[in-house]
Amino acid sequence: MTDKSTLTLGDMNVELPVRKGTIGPDVIDIGALYKHTGAFTYDPGFTSTASCESKITYIDGDEGVLMHRGYPIEQLAEKGDFLETCYLLLYGELPTAAQKKDFDTRVLRHNMVHEQMTKFFNGFRRDAHPMAVMVGTVGAMAAFYHDSTDIADPHQRMVASIRLIAKMPTIAAMTYKYHVGQPFVYPKNDLDYAANFLRMCFAVPCEEYVVNPVLARAMDRIFILHADHEQNASTSTVRLAGSSGANPFACIAAGIACLWGPAHGGANEACLNMLEEIGTVDRIPEYLAKAKDKNDPFRLMGFGHRVYKNYDPRAKIMQKTMYEVLEATGHSDDPLMQVALELEKHALSDPYFIEKKLYPNVDFYSGITLRALGFPTTMFTVLFALARTVGWISQWKEMIEDPAQRIGRPRQLYTGAAKRDYVDIAKR
Ligand code: CMC
Repeated sequence: MTDKSTLTLGDMNVELPVRKGTIGPDVIDIGALYKHTGAFTYDPGFTSTASCESKITYIDGDEGVLMHRGYPIEQLAEKGDFLETCYLLLYGELPTAAQKKDFDTRVLRHNMVHEQMTKFFNGFRRDAHPMAVMVGTVGAMAAFYHDSTDIADPHQRMVASIRLIAKMPTIAAMTYKYHVGQPFVYPKNDLDYAANFLRMCFAVPCEEYVVNPVLARAMDRIFILHADHEQNASTSTVRLAGSSGANPFACIAAGIACLWGPAHGGANEACLNMLEEIGTVDRIPEYLAKAKDKNDPFRLMGFGHRVYKNYDPRAKIMQKTMYEVLEATGHSDDPLMQVALELEKHALSDPYFIEKKLYPNVDFYSGITLRALGFPTTMFTVLFALARTVGWISQWKEMIEDPAQRIGRPRQLYTGAAKRDYVDIAKR
């Protein structure tokens, strides 16, 4: 592609600049289109629209590539830990040993939540969905941490970022404890991020909880795999909310709300519910037929992706992690596993799924793994939110720090009634 493109609209020719990224498709800059032609572009679902410029994450959906700041996800998941990925996403470079130690300490020191927040939890019904509690409690952080909400101050922006990364495991674990009716467990700073989280979830006052290092490593890897995924629905929500200058904690709560949906982060919960509903291997053909039936809204949860049309690179690592966890927890012969493996086999050889390029995504394997780790399905999306917080806040920071940043304000194609006169109620 050249560095200019020409759009012909009626008898008008408009030259539009073409921008090139480091890698990936070129982008036609239509910023001045309306000024020159009076026309908008139309792309519901944003299938061909780059909503921003970013240096954080790159995805090549056809090749199954995911990179953070240029580093392939496979290498980050294999060689580093979650807090290293957090540092990378936030600062743009991998930390030195000294920077890593300092960052880990800063995160650890921020992991407790304001004691008043424990009271806030008590306002919820115990049977509330944990994601509803997360939206509320993370949004409520805006009411607790006033010294990190001046978004014009780079120091306060970083403090808010560290607070969110540090406190999300505590809030997520409190959500779980409240859900199951157990007392909250405070963080313990001699444990690392993932081990601390497992302990806050599964320790009880009457019995010490010994963290299994295989499970802590698996938890950490799950966090790495979900850390960021460029301009997905929840990240775009955070950016749009933040574009008005809104409070950072409120913006992350908006991201959590968006993530909740079954087409996005809620898919891991929906996938496990689906596997339970299928129940036995002999019922798989029935569910495959439902998924392929145009008149049936049922979709195979954990399959397909807007961007990955070859395979989801996160799914490969997640699958390996799933086997490690199943072995470490003695769940290798879980009947649900048999259903999942058979379903995967059937779908991967079915012409419908092959033609539409529908492959298992990360959520297909994460549900089984989280269940083996001991989490109820209702907690699955909470864990996704915990991990994605670093991606959301890094993208939010990048947006705020962009000098060209303006409020996000999409336009529309109006198809409602044209102007008409008000009719008095007695005459309608
Ligand atoms: N089962 C059956 N058919 C499907 C599925 C599925 N899971 N996904 C897509 N299709 C069909 C769809 O019916 C459509 O068919 P047609 O062209 O005949 O109308 C075609 O494939 C394209 O689907 P689409 O809805 O236009 O694709 P999309 O890019 O808008 O949706 C998706 C992507 C992920 C929302 C969708 O594949 C889906 O609903 N999958 C199940 C939910 C899921 O697993 N989501 C987790 C995504 S990974 C985690 C994350 O990043 O949030």
